[in-house]
Amino acid sequence: MYSIAIDGPAGAGKSTIAKRIAKELSFVYVDTGAMYRAIALYFLRKGTDPANVAEIEAECPKIHVTIEYQDGEQQVLLNGENVNGFIRNEEVGNMASKTSSIPAVRAALLDLQRNMTKTADILMDGRDIGTNVLPNADLKIYLTASSAVRAKRRYDELTAKGEVCDLATIEKDIIIRDQQDMNREIAPLKQAEDAVLVDSSDMTIDEVVDAIKEEFYKKCGK
Ligand code: DC
Repeated sequence: MYSIAIDGPAGAGKSTIAKRIAKELSFVYVDTGAMYRAIALYFLRKGTDPANVAEIEAECPKIHVTIEYQDGEQQVLLNGENVNGFIRNEEVGNMASKTSSIPAVRAALLDLQRNMTKTADILMDGRDIGTNVLPNADLKIYLTASSAVRAKRRYDELTAKGEVCDLATIEKDIIIRDQQDMNREIAPLKQAEDAVLVDSSDMTIDEVVDAIKEEFYKKCGK
């Protein structure tokens, strides 16, 4: 069984890249951000203040996140409800960045994530996969890009959907998220010592996919 870990900041293109590589190598893609987003949705629906750590810890035993695959696409279930349609927005992303800094939230997902590598070749992306979840991954990638490039990509994505948005605000939000994800005490976002750094600021999606596949072939001789 092979495992590939891809970590990096918000908007670096991890999920687009990871999905492509998983498909081309016939790996199962595991999006751990979606799991943290499902938990964030639970607390948003409840109206919980993310600073209320005691309430969040007390609620954690009541939250069950599970994963299913439909036509190869990961589906996240929150206490049995498929929440894929509710977790891909900025409100949930920002809440996930806050609630994921609480140890009980991370503990609730760790075993689920680790157990997934036992039954299939896995490509997992997130913030702490190479450093914490899969320290023995066969290949670790730290995928990043400048905040300006990440903000512009996000801006183009949103305007293409017809949403009105402001580039400077998007970049400011991205920088705040980076700070939260990199400076928390537990499992902060950082490059693992044995990870390969890929800066996609001046690369196309195809170039990034090829560079990571090349690393995999080099390391695993497949
Ligand atoms: O990758 P994403 O934007 O879907 O992740 C949402 C938030 O979840 C992110 O800001 C931090 C948190 N997260 C985490 O703490 N650890 C992970 N492995 C994945 C995501």
